[in-house]
Amino acid sequence: MNISTRLLLAIIAAAFTPFAHSSVASEPRRAGMHQYDIMGSGFQIKARGNAHLEIQINNTHGADLNAYVSGIDPGTGKAVLLRSDTWQWHVLDPGDSQYTDIPQQIKPDIKLAINVPNQKQISFTLPGFLESGRIWLAEGELMFNTTTKGLLVEPTVANPSLPEYNIKWGFLELSNLENEGIHVNLSFVDWVSLTIGMALTSTNSTGAPDTQNVKGITPESLNDICSEMEAQSRTDSHAEWGRMCVRSQDNTILRVVSPNFYAHLDAGKNSMNDYYSSYVQKVWTKYKDVDLRINTQGAEDGEDLPVAGNGAQSICRVNEDFLKCNGTGDPQFAKPSTTDIWGCTGPFGNETSLVQKRLAARLCAAFARSTLLLEGGEVQPYGDESKYYSENVTNHYSRILHQHLIDGKGYSFPYDDVNPVGQNAAGLLTAAEPKLLQVTVSA
Ligand SMILES: *[C@@H]1O[C@H](CO)[C@@H](O)[C@H](O)[C@H]1NC(C)=O
Ligand SMILES: *[C@@H]1O[C@H](CO)[C@@H](O)[C@H](O)[C@H]1NC(C)=O
Ligand SMILES: *[C@@H]1O[C@H](CO)[C@@H](O)[C@H](O)[C@H]1NC(C)=O
Ligand SMILES: *[C@@H]1O[C@H](CO)[C@@H](O)[C@H](O)[C@H]1NC(C)=O
Ligand SMILES: *[C@@H]1O[C@H](CO)[C@@H](O)[C@H](O)[C@H]1NC(C)=O
Ligand SMILES: *[C@@H]1O[C@H](CO)[C@@H](O)[C@H](O)[C@H]1NC(C)=O
Ligand SMILES: *[C@@H]1O[C@H](CO)[C@@H](O)[C@H](O)[C@H]1NC(C)=O
Repeated sequence: MNISTRLLLAIIAAAFTPFAHSSVASEPRRAGMHQYDIMGSGFQIKARGNAHLEIQINNTHGADLNAYVSGIDPGTGKAVLLRSDTWQWHVLDPGDSQYTDIPQQIKPDIKLAINVPNQKQISFTLPGFLESGRIWLAEGELMFNTTTKGLLVEPTVANPSLPEYNIKWGFLELSNLENEGIHVNLSFVDWVSLTIGMALTSTNSTGAPDTQNVKGITPESLNDICSEMEAQSRTDSHAEWGRMCVRSQDNTILRVVSPNFYAHLDAGKNSMNDYYSSYVQKVWTKYKDVDLRINTQGAEDGEDLPVAGNGAQSICRVNEDFLKCNGTGDPQFAKPSTTDIWGCTGPFGNETSLVQKRLAARLCAAFARSTLLLEGGEVQPYGDESKYYSENVTNHYSRILHQHLIDGKGYSFPYDDVNPVGQNAAGLLTAAEPKLLQVTVSA
């Protein structure tokens, strides 16, 4: 084990009580939920949906994998997990007498792991619609627990004493609903580990089959991502970038966690707590005298406009410590802290009105990508993707990760779906009538 991993393990062990895990792991996930509001893209699916979505998993990873499917049954609101013996849902029932207040592993006689042998492809069909779902992929076993309230306790990489800490694993997030169709994404908001890609085949509005792809990180790039994070530590002397790269005891790279995830693990001992302070101060000084123009990319009344990007422009200036903008409810933003920027929380989580919410998403993206002080940064969303992350103070995890994402697509922070019209940095796939979701795990 190298020194940085040992330190990280010690920090995590010190910082965590067993019951804190699930909240940490799930907090940054609100990301894509804002999709329809943010994009203002006229997302108007009139769907019949497809309850029996076919899923194929193709494993060229070089080792056997286990897959799992979890989520909420929208019909009952109960948490469900796919059984790999019957291909029906295992339903978590509130008050099930076998469970105590302490999270317990789901009974071992309920077979959840779907074995995907190396160099093989397997396929199965979902038994029904699924909300807030995940397809989990792991080099070994993941442990799913439940509480008496019938809540699912998801696996987490926040606790080194759990078996899943020491293996490589990742997931896709999906919702597949009758009225909305499917939304599926690869999320790197928490970490990047296995090389996972996806292709969604659906019937489009003309009735023709249509396949969309998001390919994930380039094969075998995890080691490079890790090396570049370590190189960033040498460049700016923040050891944390390198420590976000987590290794197993035999020195295998397991995953690279995001600065947001890391900040939660390392709270209190993180030398990067003030990382963005000087940048935020410069932004505050600049926009005392200059207008910051933010396109809300949607109508203020909540109706999406027919053409994305034609939304009202809000004009913002710093006044008495707040960035004050015009629009319904006079949206204003306090100075964000570094962790507010990593996780798009604090002033960026203050969703008092639709305009405020849209401005918050665009502002958080502008801070994460450090585009506010660039030439032309007075107009947001910033138009030149090639200049994202080009300042010294920026989210270097997002910078490095996007360089290794095929087509640059994937969520690296919660509002990575903020883009000028015609661009898509996030890689969310949607379809009204999905037929087939193909998942590939490569080396
Ligand atoms: C991904 O999609 C799911 C389902 O629509 C959504 O709940 C989640 O917030 C999204 N996550 C990210 C990081 O976009
Ligand atoms: C699985 O993926 C590999 C690599 O992309 C590809 O060559 C192979 O055809 C795929 N297998 C199937 C059954 O689609
Ligand atoms: C899940 O339950 C097992 C045993 O029932 C326990 O050892 C483990 O710590 C639990 N995991 C979580 C995340 O609560
Ligand atoms: C539907 O899919 C076909 C085949 O991929 C494609 O040629 C056509 O442009 C698509 N139409 C729409 C409206 O997306
Ligand atoms: C802000 O004010 C400008 C100029 O008066 C106006 O054009 C714009 O629509 C306003 N923005 C919002 C969101 O109301
Ligand atoms: C939330 O936003 C409203 C409207 O801009 C503002 O008045 C309020 O001060 C904000 N609250 C916090 C806690 O920032
Ligand atoms: C950015 O970082 C580089 C490398 O450490 C340094 O040479 C340069 O002066 C920095 N630029 C600014 C504006 O601080």
